[in-house]
Amino acid sequence: MDPKFVLLMAVLVTVATGKSDYVRPKPRKNLQFPWDSKPSSQPKQVHISLAGNRHMRVTWITSDKHSPSIVEYGTSPGKYNYIAQGESTSYSYLFYSSGKIHHTVIGPLEHSTTYFYRCGREGPEFQLKTPPSQFPVTFAVAGDMGQTGWTKSTLDHIDLCEYDVHLLPGDLSYADYIQSLWDTFGELVQPLASARPWMVTEGNHEKENIMFLEDGFQSYNARWKMPFKESGSSSNLYYSFEVAGVHLIMLGSYTDYDEYSDQYSWLKADLLKVDRKRTPWLLVLFHVPWYNSNRAHQGEGVSMMEAMESLLYAAGVDIVLAGHVHAYERSKRVYNGRLDPCGAVHMTIGDGGNREGLAHQYINPQPHWSDFREASFGHGELKVVNSTHALWSWHRNDDDEPVRSDQVWINSLVSSGCLADKRPGPRKILMAP
Ligand SMILES: *[C@@H]1O[C@H](CO)[C@@H](O)[C@H](O)[C@H]1NC(C)=O
Repeated sequence: MDPKFVLLMAVLVTVATGKSDYVRPKPRKNLQFPWDSKPSSQPKQVHISLAGNRHMRVTWITSDKHSPSIVEYGTSPGKYNYIAQGESTSYSYLFYSSGKIHHTVIGPLEHSTTYFYRCGREGPEFQLKTPPSQFPVTFAVAGDMGQTGWTKSTLDHIDLCEYDVHLLPGDLSYADYIQSLWDTFGELVQPLASARPWMVTEGNHEKENIMFLEDGFQSYNARWKMPFKESGSSSNLYYSFEVAGVHLIMLGSYTDYDEYSDQYSWLKADLLKVDRKRTPWLLVLFHVPWYNSNRAHQGEGVSMMEAMESLLYAAGVDIVLAGHVHAYERSKRVYNGRLDPCGAVHMTIGDGGNREGLAHQYINPQPHWSDFREASFGHGELKVVNSTHALWSWHRNDDDEPVRSDQVWINSLVSSGCLADKRPGPRKILMAP
């Protein structure tokens, strides 16, 4: 037998029998996707992402390798006054060969404006709305998406809300080595991801490395190119971007983060660049939560937290959004395990709807830093109203109706006197040359 095949089967068996000490109730099955008979140069799996100031990256896939990486766009339907030429890539993985993956940056674009666009000079017209230049700005948040019936209901609920940017703290397709599932995921999210920028960071399900055979993150990096070059990072696994008055940093839980790592140096440099007058809010996303009172994945975030929490604290990070645990949890402002008015609010929002189901066993009593926790599928919405106030809400997919289950106002650290250089310790370390 082909050794690649034997290894692949071994990997699949390991994935399928992965032991866990908690019971996950009633997951839903992966959706079935009908055979797609569209002609091969038709753009598929269209999604957009922010690509530096007033620019957007349009990504799509064609099976025709000769299809051009061109996006035509304009502000009226069917009238394309602008044209942009991009680049393309492809990858192979075990027995799978991807289609042609196109990445084309368009812009400069006006803020809060609807653009109509077409990919590769063919196929249907799509439309997108650019984010505003000022507050208010709204983010939809859901991690650990997958492609099940629950994923579909989460996406339907997000579609009902008015938001500017989708944030995804890791675990997208749950392809888990079956590359065609990346394609079906791309099709599933296209209606939303072609209309609003999707800003993602990687989770464990993006790794897909197979020892001696395949490197990690091949599919993720090829398909979900994020603005890392635009933000001075050398890796698609960590980067930053700005929307209205918010600076967002996307970190990688599955790449080196110790103080000698590239990610650590890049983070330090990026934090120093943040201008709180221009971006009063500072948010960080990564996959494995640091504050987690669920039994699932207990303690997995500790080493990254030990390496990086003081940096984030010194910089005055307002909110940290994570996934990984298939449930929702919101902390009070916390630092170093203790309540701290200048610490970050940590949210775990790994409940997008994947096939593995929910993580519903919690550590009791509830730790003092944990303010709210519930094991349901759902999504979060963060409406940053102005430089001082943001409204966070969590909506659970209860009986397929979006039910708002948790809502809280968050005051920015800028408005709480936390950034006046009053605090000793880490802040000084950060500011030292
Ligand atoms: C910010 O928004 C909050 C909530 O709507 C409001 O109470 C507050 O006065 C606003 N602050 C400023 C500076 O506009």
